[in-house]
Amino acid sequence: MEVVIVPDAAAGGELIAEAMAQLLRRKPDALLGVATGSTPLPIYQALTAKVRAGAVDTSRARIAQLDEYVGLPAEHPESYRSVLRREVLEPLGIGIDAFLGPDGAAEDVRAACQAYDAELARAGGVDLQLLGIGTDGHIGFNEPCSSLASRTRIKTLTEQTRVDNARFFDGDIAQVPHHVITQGIGTILEARHLVLLATGEGKADAVAATVEGPVAAVCPASALQLHPHATVVVDEAAASKLKHADYFRYTFVNKPEWQGI
Ligand code: PGA
Repeated sequence: MEVVIVPDAAAGGELIAEAMAQLLRRKPDALLGVATGSTPLPIYQALTAKVRAGAVDTSRARIAQLDEYVGLPAEHPESYRSVLRREVLEPLGIGIDAFLGPDGAAEDVRAACQAYDAELARAGGVDLQLLGIGTDGHIGFNEPCSSLASRTRIKTLTEQTRVDNARFFDGDIAQVPHHVITQGIGTILEARHLVLLATGEGKADAVAATVEGPVAAVCPASALQLHPHATVVVDEAAASKLKHADYFRYTFVNKPEWQGI
């Protein structure tokens, strides 16, 4: 995998937004897999600035959801569908018709999961999948010990993830759902390019395990090591526990300009 160490979150956002813009220039109807949480916000801000400046056209872009809470109605402000509508679709001027996501309010959740995997395949697969990382190493909501071959399915959140996410629910953990639908690790690995952004010291252990640890279900993000085109973008704080940080800096600085991330 390629590891890029950037000075701060804004620089990471700009680097990844430019990669997305280049993809859209090559393939205007690209299917962009997006993530929720605080980390990707600088990416969406940087991409929105490019759209407003006329540097990229998102009118044919398509958006795919990574995960969703189970049991929240779609119109709940913290359902990931609502969050993505606010943070991604509206700023980028992309309509809900171009949005693919699982139905977290479905009566038959298992069928909804299978339907979503099938929908992604029918859409031609995800071209670029953005990922955050949990403090426990999760990607999407694939918590530690998720099968590395897993498909979209229902998962139970760890207590740690519910604590981490309580800030979106007035700080009240009781309001954070226990269950989620998440693209499986096997599903995520089918995207053509995986781009994980991690910022802040709180992610340093998870980043070190992802990049320099063994491929192991106990750190779901380590599955990125199996992907032919995975890019991990980290700020200095999130990179602080990487033993090979100097090598990663050296390889990126000496990379041919045309290569991009
Ligand atoms: P965060 O969440 O970006 O809000 O830290 C990341 C995640 O849980 O995947």
